[in-house]
Amino acid sequence: MIIPNRNYAQLKDSYLFYRIAQKTKAYLEEHPGTYLYRMGIGDVSLPLCSAVIRALHEAVDDQAVKERFHGYMPECGAPFLREAVASHYRSRGVGVTADEVFISSGASDELGDILDLFDRSCGAMIIEPAYPAYVDASVIAGRKIVPVPATEENGFLPEPDEDLEADLLYLCSPNNPTGAVFPREKLHKWVDWANRRGAVILFDAAYEAFIEEENLPRSIFEIEGAKTCAIEICSLSKTAGFTGTRLGYTVIPEELERGGMRFNDMWVRNRTTKTNGVSYIIQKGGAAVFTKEGQEQIRENIRVYKNNARVLMDAFDRLGIWYTGGKNAPYLWIRCPGYMGSWEFFDYLLEKIQVIGTPGEGFGACGEGYFRFSTFGDPDDTKEAASRILDLLSQ
Ligand code: MLT
Repeated sequence: MIIPNRNYAQLKDSYLFYRIAQKTKAYLEEHPGTYLYRMGIGDVSLPLCSAVIRALHEAVDDQAVKERFHGYMPECGAPFLREAVASHYRSRGVGVTADEVFISSGASDELGDILDLFDRSCGAMIIEPAYPAYVDASVIAGRKIVPVPATEENGFLPEPDEDLEADLLYLCSPNNPTGAVFPREKLHKWVDWANRRGAVILFDAAYEAFIEEENLPRSIFEIEGAKTCAIEICSLSKTAGFTGTRLGYTVIPEELERGGMRFNDMWVRNRTTKTNGVSYIIQKGGAAVFTKEGQEQIRENIRVYKNNARVLMDAFDRLGIWYTGGKNAPYLWIRCPGYMGSWEFFDYLLEKIQVIGTPGEGFGACGEGYFRFSTFGDPDDTKEAASRILDLLSQ
């Protein structure tokens, strides 16, 4: 008889964003035709930039011509894109080679898949509140989870503690959901901790492009010693609007090894077995992001989202509601007003003003009492939502 993976029984009933989508659907069924102001899931509202669109069209045309047609792509990524990503790192002073870059279909897929590199007995340390996929992917894989609470008191950036027992550590900076960014010296402490213990850091850098302050690290490989203890997982979803197009990249340093096995070699073995690579068309679109024109255009879009953040921050400042994030990250993390629970606040906003956000509890127990707003929404919607929030909460 087939034995199902019983770890599924340990998961919450539904994934956070699925639950929000179901609640939203139920509301719309009861209130047909109602317009909703969506600031829940961090999905982009601006289209892909013109440099990317042009490259995608050209790549489609290539597929129509025998001499330029591409069938299977190299499993670890097209050399032109691996090199474009590596040289992007090098332009920021971070030494990465094309062989260390693996092209993926997005960070969320990769954050779970990468667990294939580690023995089942390796526990995963997760700083909570956390992007729920870290927890769920680890639970499905049957790994022990060691939650590390991040709190207002430690600025949502806890420091390592020698008593912490785990082999893997998920770090996300800029953080989803709190928007907190590890300064260099604090990140250094985690790198030293990992090297001392022989642990491996899975560094989620999906939001690095939103860092404004020059001195904050955008890659863990800016920190000395990281190449012997870290894997960096990155995405073009938020940086360049690829949430629906799907493209990401992972950096596994050549020097990273444990027990005589090199993780870079192992990932080559994994990818060549488990994927046939990302489509040529999408990789051509991705390569356009790393051109001068592409970089200028994605910065324009990021400026729009940053302005959304300012609109929301202004509303919360005027209401005297505590929040963090928004400056170096595309999320605002607020304390729910009036001691409301986070799902209670979700329902309140939806019912009263048709605004959708994300309840903090969905990011782990220590997110209860907080609420996340995404700044990726349409600018007019964000202004309207901010004005509705102001009216509702100043009553
Ligand atoms: C979020 O809203 O946390 C993200 O958009 C989810 C994701 O990247 O999968």
